Amino acid sequence: MTQGWNGTFSQSGQNVAVANMDYNGSVAVNGTANPGFNASWSGSNPLPTNFAVNGNACNGSTSPTPTPTTVPPTPTPGTTPTPIPPTPTPTPGTTPTPTPTTTPTPPGTHVDNPYAGAQGYINPDWASEVTTAATAKGGTLGAQMAKVANNSTAVWLDRIAAVTGGTGVTRTLSGHLDAAVAQASSSSQPVVITIVIYDLPDRDCSAYASNGELSVANNGLALYKSQYIDPIASILSQSKYSNLRISAIIEPDSLPNLVTNLSVPKCAEANSSGAYVQGIQYALNKLHAISNVYNYIDISHSGWLGWSSNFQPAVTLITNVIKGTSAGVNSVDGFISDTANYTPTTEPFMTANQQVGGNPVRSANFYQWNQYIDEATYDTDMRNAFIAAGFPSGIGMLIDTSRNGWGGPNRPSGASSSTDLNTFVNATKIDQRLDRGNWCNQAAGIGARPTANPAPGFDAYVWIKPPGESDGTSDKTQTTPDPEGKQFDAMCDPTGNSRYNSAVKTGALPNAPDAGHWFEAEFEILVQNAYPSF
Ligand code: BGC
Repeated sequence: MTQGWNGTFSQSGQNVAVANMDYNGSVAVNGTANPGFNASWSGSNPLPTNFAVNGNACNGSTSPTPTPTTVPPTPTPGTTPTPIPPTPTPTPGTTPTPTPTTTPTPPGTHVDNPYAGAQGYINPDWASEVTTAATAKGGTLGAQMAKVANNSTAVWLDRIAAVTGGTGVTRTLSGHLDAAVAQASSSSQPVVITIVIYDLPDRDCSAYASNGELSVANNGLALYKSQYIDPIASILSQSKYSNLRISAIIEPDSLPNLVTNLSVPKCAEANSSGAYVQGIQYALNKLHAISNVYNYIDISHSGWLGWSSNFQPAVTLITNVIKGTSAGVNSVDGFISDTANYTPTTEPFMTANQQVGGNPVRSANFYQWNQYIDEATYDTDMRNAFIAAGFPSGIGMLIDTSRNGWGGPNRPSGASSSTDLNTFVNATKIDQRLDRGNWCNQAAGIGARPTANPAPGFDAYVWIKPPGESDGTSDKTQTTPDPEGKQFDAMCDPTGNSRYNSAVKTGALPNAPDAGHWFEAEFEILVQNAYPSF
């Protein structure tokens, strides 16, 4: 045997055995893993008489002899042999790769929508947490949980160590990019990897759960530039990554906090010091200079900026920040909403302005006169507002649908017949939160799978918050920053009331670990309430 790909090979005499790589160990029904190897042999080469995986015969129909892809898969870096291997003979029974009818875009070209025609990166570390939990659970739920691992999730660069390495970091940025390159080698499509830029000084300024390591008072902006953004930019610009499409989600919640939370001292400091604005402009300048990087700016979600008193100020602030970069409006490719939140993409059984008992739905207690009851309408209007403010019409929206599905037994199947507005809304909405402001560890459900071009103006539905990772600790004693900078936030206290609406509880699940850490109990609920279900 001279070479193998997409598997770990071992040879004993004439027998070659293959085991999975960490990214292709779980194969969906009708899915592919595409391992292969080249070997030399002195005799004839008859086709195998049987073909089995883990002892199970593969009985699929035999396809016509597939046309091999003209470019052999690029082997995993580090295992690349110098000579270009012969074109691998495809395994009979695999589906032939269709011959493209249009001229393919050269790899690495900056395209309009990085998600279109691309395969999403599977984070092997998150996938393995999911798979381990699924195996331990077993049964029907375990089988459903296992399927979640096949979905692409974002890589959060939530501290300097996540970029360059350090305690508690399983895989650095380069490690993820190397794994993405390896995944690309088994795909006829380019791989899109989504990273989250999330380390501004005074991060998460209006809450505590995701406070970060840098502060304005301790030279945070300079450190953000030199210790965080510069290393990211230098890694991303390496030529070995130039065929990846790298989508960067820029600083969730930061500019939205400057729109609505300046009465909170830390947000006021983040604003008056210029740290958020200058940090984001610096990040955009550095990242936009790399042609295979795509920038998406966070616009929170409809339940935060949807009121007209917030909407236009947000558009104005965000527009001015972006126009202040070297490339101006061209330094971004679009915007993202619902990052790590739970607001549904649509409320399928009602509209914001529908009249019930003589009043619009949006005037119900749950919506408090917000202009928007879902992300789809909010994003569409945001996109139009940005285009009106000078952005190119090619900008596309993303929605984080990782936890906004709201399925499960409590999901309504149609509109209520009540003519009492609040009764109607409470019985009709799929969003089962007690209040739209509840953001910590909700008993929600996984939503739409990552999908490119889901609707006009939308680049993709993406999974930014990896399902199963906590929003914040429920440990009330954690009142000082831990090594990651995180603390207990009262919105994560299951026994407490919401700080945005004292009439209701937080809805947070109990026994939650630190933000970003694996929270198995929540993961199980997210899978049970998934919509579409698994
Ligand atoms: C946390 C990050 C984490 C991310 C994804 C955020 O709330 O602050 O540390 O990486 O969620 O789980």
